[in-house]
Amino acid sequence: MADAPAQPSVMEQIVSLCKRRGFVYPASEIYGGLNGFWDYGPLGVLLKNNIRDWWWRNMVECPPIGPDGHPVDIVGLDSAIIQHPKTWKASGHVESFNDPMVDCRETKGRYRADHVKVFVPKDGKGFSYAFVDDREAAEKKIKRDAKRNPVDYDEVILTTLPLDAYAKVVGPDTKSAGTLTEPRAFSLMLDTYPGPIRDENNKAYLRPETAQGIFLDFKNIVDTTRVKVPFGVAQVGKSFRNEVTPRNYIFRSREFEQMEMEFFCPPDEALKWYEFWRAERMKWWESLGVSKENLRFRDHDKDELAFYSKATVDIEYRYPFTAPDFGELEGVAHRGDYDLTQHSKHSGQKLDYFDQELQLKLKEQGASPEDVKAKSRYIPNVIEPASGLTRAVLVLLCEAYRNEKGRQGTEEYLSFKPQFAPIKLGIFPLVNKDGMPEVAEKLYLDLRKTFTCEYDPKQSIGKRYARMDEIGTPFCVTIDGETLKDQTVTIRERDSMKQERIAIDKVRAFVQEKLNG
Ligand code: GAP
Repeated sequence: MADAPAQPSVMEQIVSLCKRRGFVYPASEIYGGLNGFWDYGPLGVLLKNNIRDWWWRNMVECPPIGPDGHPVDIVGLDSAIIQHPKTWKASGHVESFNDPMVDCRETKGRYRADHVKVFVPKDGKGFSYAFVDDREAAEKKIKRDAKRNPVDYDEVILTTLPLDAYAKVVGPDTKSAGTLTEPRAFSLMLDTYPGPIRDENNKAYLRPETAQGIFLDFKNIVDTTRVKVPFGVAQVGKSFRNEVTPRNYIFRSREFEQMEMEFFCPPDEALKWYEFWRAERMKWWESLGVSKENLRFRDHDKDELAFYSKATVDIEYRYPFTAPDFGELEGVAHRGDYDLTQHSKHSGQKLDYFDQELQLKLKEQGASPEDVKAKSRYIPNVIEPASGLTRAVLVLLCEAYRNEKGRQGTEEYLSFKPQFAPIKLGIFPLVNKDGMPEVAEKLYLDLRKTFTCEYDPKQSIGKRYARMDEIGTPFCVTIDGETLKDQTVTIRERDSMKQERIAIDKVRAFVQEKLNG
């Protein structure tokens, strides 16, 4: 009997829905696509902008109340993507922003060594089997070649194996052992040559993180605005990394967007602010409608910390492709004074801060003049919540995706929290005649001033509801024969599919209330 066709995984279903409905397309698709690059379609860009705007609102316009009971001070910035090349020498990226990479001599495949997992026989006899994402394929090879079970093997990361063990490793996409090279450092920096001359002296980099632009403008911001330490600088924008293995859809791409905030504080307050920001950032992810059980903190082990970092915690999400495990979503790092110190050394500019308030306080406390002088000028410490905007889009898509067998209209739909849905309200005339389109279009022209609406007069009403459910529109309004008589409409809610009748002039307030709630 022929095998039943394999069911698409949840991730494959999400990717297919997002393509079909205009959320995310492979970049340059008509030329066969470009690995690691994605386009955000008409609905994807709305979703992405909604998340970006909510981050900006909560960082710059309405930042949280700090541990001392006052709102924290955060200003915005939009720095250049290409900065002076010395920036990346000072930050350490030129020298050490690289991934260990292994090649397969047979297939010419290239893998990030620390992403390759290996089944190693517990008894030390026979071959080991490597895989990246496809554990099932490796398990099949074990059963077929070695005639053993995966339970007879330990699962380890390739980089933990001694090099002489590589000869016995069957690569992820081969049948033979010993085809993997030893890991080599592979720079993640994408370079470019501004101006007419294309030589080493003119080499610059597309930024791999938005953070460094903030450090370069620290002095400008202190000198030209009224901020005083402690304060933060927030930035959203594109970053570029020449990832060895871009994978898992938009999770790890070569061009992506980040939302980063560098919070400058006195060195002896850094731990307090680190604790503050880690809690605040988790609250923010929950405010997007992400369920608590799909989020967790993961503190970095001491040996995992970047050499300048005193503490780092990742906020992780249970993605469909990591479940039951979790994967990184945002990092909150205590960067000490590393960045400002480095840029000060490499640029020759003073990037320290004179803390007038601290000076007064120390004097009042009767500190010695030497102590006052030494302590009131310092290089601020930095606490950095750094998250991926495009990764946040992925999280909201995964979190909202529903597939309910037998559901009326469409089994697949997106249950976004209304505030983040690309379209908030669908507006339909029941039929495209009898005066209904005119009333519906008038309502659309009025309400689109307040929130994103879509006017759709075509197809059966059931198909229009189904399409709106698929793209995650929380409410739909239908103008029918009764509307013309008594000025009422039906309003339908996406998740429950319940309909109620309300006055046409109450639609704005009805939707607004749900958006605010
Ligand atoms: N300034 C610190 C910094 O850039 P990071 O952990 O390398 O830290 C921060 O990046 C966030 O940016 C990650 O938590 C992730 O959400 C996002 N990110 C990093 N690399 C990415 C990639 N290749 N594709 C998509 N998002 C990425």
